[in-house]
Amino acid sequence: MHTTPGFPTVRVVSHPLVQHKLSLLRDRTTPTKIFKELVDEIATLIAYEATSELSLEPAPVETPLERTTGMRVSGKKLTLVPILRAGLGMVEGVARLVPAARVGHIGLYRDHDTLQPVDYYFKVPSDAGERDFFLLDPMLATGGSAAAAVSSLKRAGATRIRFLCLVAAPEGVERLAPAHPDVSVLTASLDRELNAQGYILPGLGDAGDRLFGTR
Ligand code: PRP
Ligand code: URA
Repeated sequence: MHTTPGFPTVRVVSHPLVQHKLSLLRDRTTPTKIFKELVDEIATLIAYEATSELSLEPAPVETPLERTTGMRVSGKKLTLVPILRAGLGMVEGVARLVPAARVGHIGLYRDHDTLQPVDYYFKVPSDAGERDFFLLDPMLATGGSAAAAVSSLKRAGATRIRFLCLVAAPEGVERLAPAHPDVSVLTASLDRELNAQGYILPGLGDAGDRLFGTR
């Protein structure tokens, strides 16, 4: 994992497998089935890095031979929050590492003309202030959806939020970071820029459409 000068909130997961799989994901000829599998696998690998920062507490354990003190992740269950729809593609991959995680949902879509986020659904555990949150969305483009989702989580009481994505644009990071400097972004790539329609370049296209075959 590495940081990029000028983007202190961003950590790029530079693991060779992540980078290899990301290139397959970018490929326009990758079919829906494989695209879905790759999103799932990369989400697992990014979650491995993201979970490395969770805090631990000592926990007694009885081995077959004696009593000892092990460690366990402290606090209430981690909560995964996919931003609908494309974030759904990352849930299983992260939950594979953290099967007891709770799952909230945030429904947001980006208006095609204004590029502003339109929200339509919000549900997370009621004790949000006591939990760590992983907000999941493959794409951080203008940052409007991410900033709105983080604001909604904070209004619900969340204080510990990490944003896990596959591809981020500098413009999106520059919008999210000043609004929410406490939220770190873990991504497989910090791409070059947005095009005039708000798509990430080089990017991977419309993540929701490619995941669900709706193009
Ligand atoms: C995509 C993506 C993000 C958003 C990013 O979703 O999954 O949620 O765009 O763009 P932004 O950073 O400019 O806000 P989209 O709005 O296409 O909705 P969908 O998943 O329902 O297709
Ligand atoms: N949403 C996507 O799915 N892809 C982009 O490149 C930008 C926003």
